Amino acid sequence: MTEQTPTDVHAAWLPAEAFRSLGSRRVLVHGAGPLVDTVYEEAARACAEHGGQVRRAPAQGHGPAATGEDADLVLALSSANSLGPAARSVLAGFRAAGGGTAAIGDEGYLLARRDGTTLVLADDPAGLLYGLFHVVRLGAAAFTGDRPAEHHRPAVRSRMLDHWDNVDVHPVMGQVERGYSGGSLFWHDGRARGDLTRVRAYARLLAACGINAVSVNNVNVHATEALLLTERLGDVAALADVFRPYGIRVHLSVSFAAPVVLGGLPTADPLDPDVRAWWAEATARVHQAVPDFGGYVVKADSEGQPGPFSYGRSHADGANLLARALAPFGGEVHWRAFVYDHRQDWRDRTTDRARAAFDHFAPLDGQFDDNVVLQVKHGPMDFQTREPVSPVIAAMPRTRLAVEFQVTQEYTGQQRHVCYLGPMWSGILGFGPWGPEGPTVASVAGGGTEPGTGRAAGGGIVAVSNAGDDRYWTGHPLAQANLYAFGRLAWAPGADPAALLDEWIDLTFVPVAAGDPAPLRHALHAMMAGSWRTYERYTAPLGVGFMVRPGDHYGPDVDGYEYTPWGTYHFADRDGVGVDRTRATGTGFTGQYPAPWSQVYESPGRCPDELLLFFHHVPYGHVLRSGSTVVQHIYDTHFDGAEEAAAMRRRWADPALTRLVDPALHARVGERLDEQVRCAEEWRDQVNAYFFRKSGVPDARGRRIP
Ligand code: GCU
Repeated sequence: MTEQTPTDVHAAWLPAEAFRSLGSRRVLVHGAGPLVDTVYEEAARACAEHGGQVRRAPAQGHGPAATGEDADLVLALSSANSLGPAARSVLAGFRAAGGGTAAIGDEGYLLARRDGTTLVLADDPAGLLYGLFHVVRLGAAAFTGDRPAEHHRPAVRSRMLDHWDNVDVHPVMGQVERGYSGGSLFWHDGRARGDLTRVRAYARLLAACGINAVSVNNVNVHATEALLLTERLGDVAALADVFRPYGIRVHLSVSFAAPVVLGGLPTADPLDPDVRAWWAEATARVHQAVPDFGGYVVKADSEGQPGPFSYGRSHADGANLLARALAPFGGEVHWRAFVYDHRQDWRDRTTDRARAAFDHFAPLDGQFDDNVVLQVKHGPMDFQTREPVSPVIAAMPRTRLAVEFQVTQEYTGQQRHVCYLGPMWSGILGFGPWGPEGPTVASVAGGGTEPGTGRAAGGGIVAVSNAGDDRYWTGHPLAQANLYAFGRLAWAPGADPAALLDEWIDLTFVPVAAGDPAPLRHALHAMMAGSWRTYERYTAPLGVGFMVRPGDHYGPDVDGYEYTPWGTYHFADRDGVGVDRTRATGTGFTGQYPAPWSQVYESPGRCPDELLLFFHHVPYGHVLRSGSTVVQHIYDTHFDGAEEAAAMRRRWADPALTRLVDPALHARVGERLDEQVRCAEEWRDQVNAYFFRKSGVPDARGRRIP
């Protein structure tokens, strides 16, 4: 793999080599404005590297110099008045097919190839930028034969990464909360980094996979971070300046108590006129400093963060307070639905953390302003390896919803384990909350696809980033694939995650030695494509979740959370395991789903195996749909999962592959695989021993359980 100098940071999916095809051509860039400048710079950089030529079209003009008839690649705004005949005919064809008025649309582009010229046409400069990166992904194929016009546009308007970065190093959480890739990209030594070269490189990587929004600080807003809204606004503006040329808007996590802690007011009551005035003024100042500011992210009344409950107000009151301050400037509030009782009594079987988001928010449907986005974790608990889709997604048709994923691998191996999450996210985005035939989670997040249903516009797709100041960006070099796939799925939720994995491999892994690169691609695909299921096999079984070490959430501790206040239990005893969330005998959580899921999940016979213990407490001898008993399934999957991890490590050590990979990168992945194998064996032995001791049922295949 090639490295990027001078910062000596890994080039990830944008190595110079990925630009070879584009950079060896004659390129014409049409249009003006900061994002068009970025397109031009990208093309110029590639051409300088690979011997091509790039030109800007004059604003007015005729002949090939302006129209690009002599160019191999033309990137042009559809409004340009000197387009050549090929571009004009592609546009005319597109418009005619759409009844004469079709728009390419925000951030969208047409990609075509006619008469030896590849064309990227867009209504706005962002579309040109995304089109340029599409040409990079295609490589030589972008310049071969004819290509009928393809229309590409994002399914979701807001495609966002949240950074849980602290400006100061937090005594328990470190600098990046749940971060496994070194320090923050943005903050260092209690202040913004002076040199933002890496942030610019990051912005470029994000644009290349389709991300258009970031929030730059932790949702748990501590004292120093609160100041970003006021005294340290200049730092936010500096970051926004670096993200802007890549079409990325900056957001800020704010404390609901800001009027008290920053403004010196006696209250943060959302209905208090002084509080409203304070937010209006503070927000106006933010917009002065950052004219395209995206808005606020808020974690309120959750895990100790302040919120409207302290004043007897609802979360709609709280969110609308901020929304009204942002509305004059076109900003949005991302209000998180992650609200639950984290001081639960484990003896109390009536409280169910899975119910909390629905219980708090569903009754508020219709009460949120239009520029409020309710940001809902994809599952009802907390980013476990396997959870059902949150019932909130089907429950609030009159609210703009965003679905939140976790690219950082808090519960999925912490970037020490290979765990490619594309298949999980793809399954969730394609899930039908009202049944397999109905609209999908992606269509709720995207919105606007169902005219006449009265359903609110979508709030987008959001994830917690896994990037840091590590040389490979993500600690484990293979965890880059998660960042890449997240962006690509947020843009095109229907994309095949296995194909996205190959796309990432092809861009990222340029063999360092001569020879056939196919074995490298094949090996990486084989190691990664099924790695989420492998991880699931050796960790908590059948959707029951947790069983991780309390606090850092790494490695096995079956009863680690069993008697804690966090609401995360598995209820294993000598007879059985699982959480009864049925209406008939349990917490009633299944009743939060519409049909058919309310019935499917209610019935142990119909519930999918992988979620059985999330919804039901069953005896160890319960026969799964697969035909295996629960306890035998636990033994089998844990032996298999640990063996699959060992197979990954063997594959990576194959000398035929080793010689094709940069030695430092190879070593880094190798170290992580050693740890994955060790940890998977630990999981296997602890989980198997635990259930053998509880149940007394021996392994039907007589394998050794310690
Ligand atoms: C998890 C995570 C916390 C984080 C929280 C959140 O509980 O462990 O570190 O703050 O999610 O999403 O707000």
